[in-house]
Amino acid sequence: MTIYNDEFSAYINSLFVPEDAALRRAREDSPKRGLPAIQIKPEEGRFLQFLVRACGAQKALEIGTLGGYSGIWIARGLSPGGRLITLEVEPLHAQVAAEHFAAAGVAERIEIRVGNAHDLLKSLPAEGPFDFIFIDAEKTGYPRYLDWALENIRLNGVIAVHNAFRKGSVAGLVEPDKHTAITQEFNRRFAGESRLLSTIFPAGDGMLVGVKVSN
Ligand code: DHB
Ligand code: MG
Repeated sequence: MTIYNDEFSAYINSLFVPEDAALRRAREDSPKRGLPAIQIKPEEGRFLQFLVRACGAQKALEIGTLGGYSGIWIARGLSPGGRLITLEVEPLHAQVAAEHFAAAGVAERIEIRVGNAHDLLKSLPAEGPFDFIFIDAEKTGYPRYLDWALENIRLNGVIAVHNAFRKGSVAGLVEPDKHTAITQEFNRRFAGESRLLSTIFPAGDGMLVGVKVSN
């Protein structure tokens, strides 16, 4: 029997997910500023923080900043001296995220780069390899983002990718939408990628996670 549901989510969060005022503000303020309310769930944020610390990340990369909620969690998992580079195509999102990073006390650890992520990634290999990469952006770009991540993550580094469940549609829980098929295809590819030891963390909208086990 599988019993994970909103009550267990709340139970986990009550025990393990210390959302301070800055995180709550980042979550609650973003929709009021006109950003879509599609940031990760608190327990997904805690899981990212856990992963970042578990792999001892000093160089982290995020593709898709949105309002900065996930970036705060990632930054708070970095080892001392660690840095996060986060890529965002919408200038308003980047501005709002910058405010949220400052309020959370992590602004010095994070650099926001504004532009099309596929373009920004072209010059980023010189700043790698990265210890941790989080992908949470336009779904049509995922295959190319994963190509890049596989080339630019260090051995034993971690790649996390949001929205593996596509609101439950990948498993037939709700009707498919325009991104269900590409999400299913992407999940199959991630699962079959021999350079990764991978799974899905089944909270929120599903988080693909893979550790790079071979070059
Ligand atoms: C959508 C995108 C996301 O990254 C997310 O977490 C939820 C929804 C979307 O485009 O619908
Ligand atoms: Mg997402």
